Amino acid sequence: MSQDYPRDASLIVPNISSYQITANAPLKLGIMASGNGSNFEAIFQAIADGKLNAQIQVLIYNNPGAKAAIRATNRGIDALLINHRDYQNREYFDKQIVDKLRQYDVEWVILAGWMRLLTPVLIDAFADKIINIHPSLLPSFKGIRAVEQALAAGVKIAGCTAHIACLEMDSGRILAQAAVPVFPDDTPETLHARIQVQEYQILPQAIALAAQS
Ligand code: GRF
Repeated sequence: MSQDYPRDASLIVPNISSYQITANAPLKLGIMASGNGSNFEAIFQAIADGKLNAQIQVLIYNNPGAKAAIRATNRGIDALLINHRDYQNREYFDKQIVDKLRQYDVEWVILAGWMRLLTPVLIDAFADKIINIHPSLLPSFKGIRAVEQALAAGVKIAGCTAHIACLEMDSGRILAQAAVPVFPDDTPETLHARIQVQEYQILPQAIALAAQS
């Protein structure tokens, strides 16, 4: 019976244990987050644990009060609020972000729960160097409420995807995916929590993979 399936079962591809997770020089990361920031924390921890050879140059957040900003400040990392509500359009907003990322000498941009659509201003400034984490097995369930979408569809396997960001939302070259089981008693919260455990594994891995490819 599906209830007997291990709650913590997962399948990650590519296989993390067999993959070199370091780069020659530390990767200079700029992380962008809109809310909680647990993926920010996972990246920070992967670096602290020596699993990812990188340094976080700056966190950019767009929502005042985002917990991600507190997490960054507590870790001694600059947290910059760039509030989209202060800009007349998405392009001006992205231009300000690009300017700040450049000031902080960022090479790789990590969208760790960034809830704004990107414009060519940002995509072109960091071509093929923007990585997104999304809580579904793409190309299924793009956009908001991906976990709710998966539950509504009745899938038995859900998961997350780390991919290169491009103009089309939640698209672009897939770097890594993790699959988890869905249980009959799952709520969006319980399933999302199971998926997030895997996000913390594949996002640091995907950063290393992208830098090596
Ligand atoms: C994650 O589920 C991620 O896949 C999605 O937004 C969520 C961010 O979570 N894009 P957190 O803020 O890192 O805790």
